[in-house]
Amino acid sequence: MVKICCIGAGYVGGPTMAVIALKCPAIEVAVVDISVSRINAWNSDTLPIYEPGLDEVVKQCRGKNLFFSTDVEKHVFEADIVFVSVNTPTKTQGLGAGKAADLTYWESAARMIADVSKSDKIVVEKSTVPVKTAEAIEKILTHNSKKINFQILSNPEFLAEGTAIKDLFNPDRVLIGGRETPDGQKAIQALKDVYAHWVPVDRIICTNLWSAELSKLAANAFLAQRISSVNAMSALCEATGADVTQVSHAVGKDTRIGPKFLNASVGFGGSCFQKDILNLVYICECNGLPDVANYWKQVIKVNDYQKTRFVNRVVASMFNTVSGKKIAILGFAFKKDTGDTRETPAIDVCKGLLGDKARLSIYDPQVTGDQIQRDLAMKKFDWDHPVHLQPLSPTSVKEVSVVWDAYEATKDAHGICIMTEWDEFKTLDYQKIYDNMQKPAFVFDGRNIVDVEKLREIGFIVYSIGKPLDPWLKDMPAVA
Ligand code: NAI
Repeated sequence: MVKICCIGAGYVGGPTMAVIALKCPAIEVAVVDISVSRINAWNSDTLPIYEPGLDEVVKQCRGKNLFFSTDVEKHVFEADIVFVSVNTPTKTQGLGAGKAADLTYWESAARMIADVSKSDKIVVEKSTVPVKTAEAIEKILTHNSKKINFQILSNPEFLAEGTAIKDLFNPDRVLIGGRETPDGQKAIQALKDVYAHWVPVDRIICTNLWSAELSKLAANAFLAQRISSVNAMSALCEATGADVTQVSHAVGKDTRIGPKFLNASVGFGGSCFQKDILNLVYICECNGLPDVANYWKQVIKVNDYQKTRFVNRVVASMFNTVSGKKIAILGFAFKKDTGDTRETPAIDVCKGLLGDKARLSIYDPQVTGDQIQRDLAMKKFDWDHPVHLQPLSPTSVKEVSVVWDAYEATKDAHGICIMTEWDEFKTLDYQKIYDNMQKPAFVFDGRNIVDVEKLREIGFIVYSIGKPLDPWLKDMPAVA
C-alpha cells in the first residue's frame, strides 16, 4: 500500500489530503501537524476550517485511510510520498523583510524529513515557495541523508478557499514539476498516478521544477492583477458616471479576456495574493529586474489604494467624521464561504474607521469575536506565524463589539459597511434595518451585492463601488 504523509494540516493540507484519501482508497494518507489543537479539531466533529463539502469528505474516510496526527516523525518515516504544506509567510525581519518568503517552517520540515528517513522518498512542495526553493531543499535533504534517494517535486496547489472541495474534485489543471533525470521522471509519474485516480490525464501538466514553482506565483499575480485592474477602473467609473458592472460585463465578453474575476470590490485579501506578489517582486529584484518588480508592485499599491479610498468615502459621506458614530461591519472574512480572515480588507477598513474614532459593531457568520479582536490588534504579517509567536493576549479593541446577528449589528448604527459577499446579506430585511438605524442611514457596499435602487427607495444613502454616485455623494470632495 502506498503511504502518503502531509506535513501541515491547514487550509491546503487538510482538504487536499482528504480528497486524495477519498479518491484513492488504496492509499493511506496521514496529515500531521505540530499544532495539537489543530489536529484535535481535525479529529473532532468541528473541523478547524470551514469549507463547503469538507465535512462530508472527511467523515467518509477518517479512520479508514485518512488519519490526522501530531506524531510527525512516525508518519514521515513510514511514508513513500511526503507532501510539505506548511505556511510560507512574508519575512518580518532581516534580509528581504516585508517581501521575501520566510522559509523557516519549510526548512525545519525538510531537516526533520532528512533526520527521520530510512528509505527513499518523494518530497512534494505543496506550499507556495520562491522559485529555486527545491534546490535548497534538495541540499538540506541530501547533505543529511544516509544514501537515501530523495526526489523533490513541485506540485503547487491552485484551490480557492470557499470552493476548495469543488476545485479539488474538478481542477482546471494539476501541475507537477520535477527533475529531468530518469529518477525525476519516475517520481513525476508516481505522483501523476495518484492524481490520475480522478483527474483526466490531459489536465495533469508536467514541467521542470522551476516552471512549476514560478507558475504558481505567476498565476496568483495574474489573478490579483485582474482585480486591481477592475478596481482601478472603478475609481474612474465613479468620477465619470460609468458603471463598473456594465464596463466589466462588456470587457469580459471578449473571449480573449473572459468574464471571471472582474468584479470590482473593496480589494482582494486572503493569505496568498499579497504574500505571493511580494515574493515575486523580491525575486525580480534579486535577479536584477527592477522594472518587472515595479510592474507587479503596482498590483498591491492599487489594492491598498482601493481600501483607503473606501474608508475615505465612508468618512467623507458622513459629514467628514465618524467619531463616536456606530458603524456596522457586515462580514469580516476575506471572501464568502470561508472563516479565513488572513489579509482580509475588513482589517484595513476597520482600522481606518477606528483611526477616525468610529465605534464598530461587527458581524460575520463564520468568524469568531476572538479572531476579529486578534486581527485588529495584530501587526502586519504577524498573522501567518504560529500563535505562540504572535503578541501575547493582545488587549481587545474597546471600540469594537462583535455580535452574532446582522440586525443586532445595524441597530442604532449610522452606517453599514458590507465587507464580505455572504449570500445572507443579499436577502436581509433592509426596511427593518433602516427603521432601526440613525438617520440619515448609509450603506457602503464594498462587494456590490445589494440592490442599490431598492435601498435608495427605502431611504438609504448608498455607495456602491464603481457605480454612479448617489446624489448625496456627488457633492462630496473627491477622495483618493
Ligand atoms: P496554514 O497556516 O493554514 O497551515 C500550515 C500548517 O503547517 C499549520 O497548521 C502549521 O502548524 C503547520 N506547520 C508549520 N510548520 C510545521 C512543521 N515544521 N511541522 C508540522 N507542521 C507544521 O497554511 P495554508 O493556508 O494551508 O497554506 C500552506 C501553504 O499553501 C502556503 O505556502 C500557502 O501559500 C499555500 N497555498 C495556500 C492556499 C490557500 O488558499 N490557503 C492555496 C494555495 C496554496
